[in-house]
Amino acid sequence: MSDSKTTSRAASALKTIKVHARDEDFRIIQLQGNLFVCAQANGSCCCGWGEKGRAPINHALYEAEWERRKIRNKLHLTFTGCLGPCAVGNNALLQLFGQSIWLKDLNDDSLIPAIFDYIEAMLHAERVLTPHPALAEHVFLRYLPASGDNGELVLASAQQDDDGGLERLDPVCLMDVDPATARWSSEYNGRTYYFCAPSCKKSFERDPAAYATA
Ligand code: FES
Repeated sequence: MSDSKTTSRAASALKTIKVHARDEDFRIIQLQGNLFVCAQANGSCCCGWGEKGRAPINHALYEAEWERRKIRNKLHLTFTGCLGPCAVGNNALLQLFGQSIWLKDLNDDSLIPAIFDYIEAMLHAERVLTPHPALAEHVFLRYLPASGDNGELVLASAQQDDDGGLERLDPVCLMDVDPATARWSSEYNGRTYYFCAPSCKKSFERDPAAYATA
């Protein structure tokens, strides 16, 4: 295919919508997706923190990979504060074609080009694909799937049910806390609850029934 035909096909694939705000109409380009990268510079509480055993976030490499592939009109790149599952960070959330693909343990810069290779392959295929081998261990399901959808599209290997996983959650912030190493705990109704920080323990002890029930 000639360059001009390729360009015209790419251009015709772009689509905008009209969005009304503050008494004005705006044209917004519709994208295939967004990559959200949890970053210390943007207010993360764990991702990118060397003192918490996480690799620094390589903003420049994320931006360089994003720019060089010329996918700005298809995928937005956002550095953001905490996404939630801090224990398994560094984390990123890729939303593509309406699906959410969570990426964990991104503590090696070589994973950044691999993420964009995966994104490019999906943009080319125009659908979500199973992760490339380099990323298979880094993808997980964070959101409950819709009824009838078990998420097989995204996960290369079956995600194990986590019996007992709920027992390990700090009931206040929902962080995973290992009872064997937890520094803060509290007894309530015959059960021991573990906390990631004294502030969570304090919140729990102010109203244990609310947190225990939740
Ligand atoms: S700090 Fe990155 S997910 Fe919470």
